[in-house]
Amino acid sequence: MKFFADTAIAEDIRELNDYGLLDGVTTNPSLVAKSGRSFVEVVGEICQIVDGPVSAEVAATDYDGMIREGRFLAAIANNVVVKLPLTLPGLKACRRLRQEAIAVNVTLCFSANQALLAAKAGASYISPFIGRLDDLNLDGMALIRDIRAIYDNYGFATEILAASIRHANHVKEAALAGADVATIPPAVIRSLANHALTDKGLEQFIADWAATGQTIG
Ligand code: E4P
Repeated sequence: MKFFADTAIAEDIRELNDYGLLDGVTTNPSLVAKSGRSFVEVVGEICQIVDGPVSAEVAATDYDGMIREGRFLAAIANNVVVKLPLTLPGLKACRRLRQEAIAVNVTLCFSANQALLAAKAGASYISPFIGRLDDLNLDGMALIRDIRAIYDNYGFATEILAASIRHANHVKEAALAGADVATIPPAVIRSLANHALTDKGLEQFIADWAATGQTIG
């Protein structure tokens, strides 16, 4: 499963990229607002840091506006993926931008039927929002499993990008459900490396080694 960082904070992206853990980045208008920077400037910087796909979302909701903004965003760098909302105009814009060989991430997906439409529109990625469904006492992970089954039934090439991930267990469950990609907040990516027994074991090894008085190198 590929890991995308779900953030517009360049410092976090740089750090995670340096660990070799990043396959790409997703942003959305709320994440860009949190960064406190200009959208175009921040997307340009992120595209320089990571080689992989960087999702940048349109603000327009009408077809012509989405096409205009999508073309503009795609021209920022060749790893930009244009993020479009899962609406009928968004699906029409998806089809058009894909015909122009522009990569598209269809976002705000909350049902398997929506995901089916995005695949039929030729989306490069579909973003089902797990956490926001869980927030409503629905089963976000069941949506990932349903989309996986439907896409496999028909051989759709659209990649399932598990989004709205809130904790480490979401990452494991998304991997078990067969998501192609998980977009994960930086703090959650870091937390995946943590285990109390790792810390305890390391402490013991360091103490035992120090007792021998040996050195390496
Ligand atoms: C990413 O593409 C989504 O916009 C993001 O994962 C949404 O996460 P949230 O539901 O925690 O805001």
